[in-house]
Amino acid sequence: MEIQEYITEDNYEEQTKINHKVFKEYYNNWATTLGKWYSIVNYIDGFAGCRVYKDDMEKLHFGSPLIAADTLNRTPNIKKANVYLVESKKKVYNNLVHNIEIWKKKNTTHKINFHTFHGKFGATFINLKKQIMNNI
Ligand SMILES: C[S@@+](CC[C@H](N)C(=O)[O-])C[C@H]1O[C@@H](n2cnc3c(N)ncnc32)[C@H](O)[C@@H]1O
Repeated sequence: MEIQEYITEDNYEEQTKINHKVFKEYYNNWATTLGKWYSIVNYIDGFAGCRVYKDDMEKLHFGSPLIAADTLNRTPNIKKANVYLVESKKKVYNNLVHNIEIWKKKNTTHKINFHTFHGKFGATFINLKKQIMNNI
């Protein structure tokens, strides 16, 4: 059976909520400003996690990988974005890949290219750098 929904968590802690709120505002301004100068951008998250939270009202809230993807997707001047995500824990990595697939199904876009890596950021860095250089 095809799975259609995000893997979610309920325990959306206040500090995580604030962290995501700040990141969302900052990244939206960053993407808008950068989009004035560059139509292709790269986003790198070395400690990606996989999270999608569901609050008491059943509203969904994304962690940083999908906040970034959503923001870049909505920024009109950005025509293409490479989103590089590194996660060390296998289960978290698998959930991240799953949630990306769901996001892609729900957001038809050709702008966002996800590149996911399972491993520690330090150990993955050389491979990551090679891919970034190939995609520039
Ligand atoms: C706080 S969580 C991620 C939060 C996410 N960036 C967000 O803001 O929604 C940190 C993640 O980094 C992963 N992690 C820890 N050490 C790592 C390393 N050396 N390389 C890659 N991932 C790592 C953990 O498994 C965890 O899922």
